[in-house]
Amino acid sequence: MTPPSYPSIPGRPLVLGHRGASAEAPENTLAAFRRSLELGADGFELDVWRCGSGEAVVIHDADAARTGQSQLAVKDAPLPRLRELDVGRWKGEAFAGERIPTLPEVLEAFPSAVVNVELKSGGIPDLGLAVEVVRAIRQQRVEERVIVSSFSASLLGAFRSLAPDVVTGFLVAPGAVAWARAAAAVRAIRPSAIHLARELATADRVSAWTRAGVNVLVWTVDDPGEVERLARLGVAAVVSNRPGVAREAVRRAAGL
Ligand code: G3P
Ligand code: MG
Repeated sequence: MTPPSYPSIPGRPLVLGHRGASAEAPENTLAAFRRSLELGADGFELDVWRCGSGEAVVIHDADAARTGQSQLAVKDAPLPRLRELDVGRWKGEAFAGERIPTLPEVLEAFPSAVVNVELKSGGIPDLGLAVEVVRAIRQQRVEERVIVSSFSASLLGAFRSLAPDVVTGFLVAPGAVAWARAAAAVRAIRPSAIHLARELATADRVSAWTRAGVNVLVWTVDDPGEVERLARLGVAAVVSNRPGVAREAVRRAAGL
């Protein structure tokens, strides 16, 4: 089965808030996702792990120390325990009371947003996470507006075989073996896109991947000049901690 085409808007890249509008709101919370849409983003990126009781929960780190002031390991803690944590207050009193959302909750709360779901993987990739994310996508019927990505080729490959009708992106970070891994993963998984760290997004590479039929998303771009440059290169999407700034830059590049 061929995946649908990568979500797009004619004439400009998509703008997605990185973990929501994470420069100004607590990352990976409903408040941050809401804010990124208010700032004009087309959607947002988020991170998911499978928690101890099996649900796909939205949080970046393997534990809740940084955002929830708790040493709980996400993969061991049951959902009710994780829900007790306040993951808003660390970003400011105005956000006190924000809770760790589940993936289905987010998909339901923002019915028209493009959502890039990043599958997080510890040392051993949790293939059950791929199953759980497919379940959430089917339940909410959001196949047409999600992009599922991962740094883990085995996790993304597992997802791709479970849901060939959903768009995928292989994540690439800078590093000595980045290109060898990327080329091998693209050959093996056939994702719809490659999600490049901004340091890697040269004009030559963007054009080579695009000509090969692989969409290019670039993360995490907060500098407006860099967003304009990428928009002119024809990237499919940019992910930014400051989606309002990125949206303005994209508008300038499109001459609007
Ligand atoms: O999906 C792009 C980006 O989110 C990957 O890195 O660590 O911010 O999840 P990280
Ligand atoms: Mg991420």
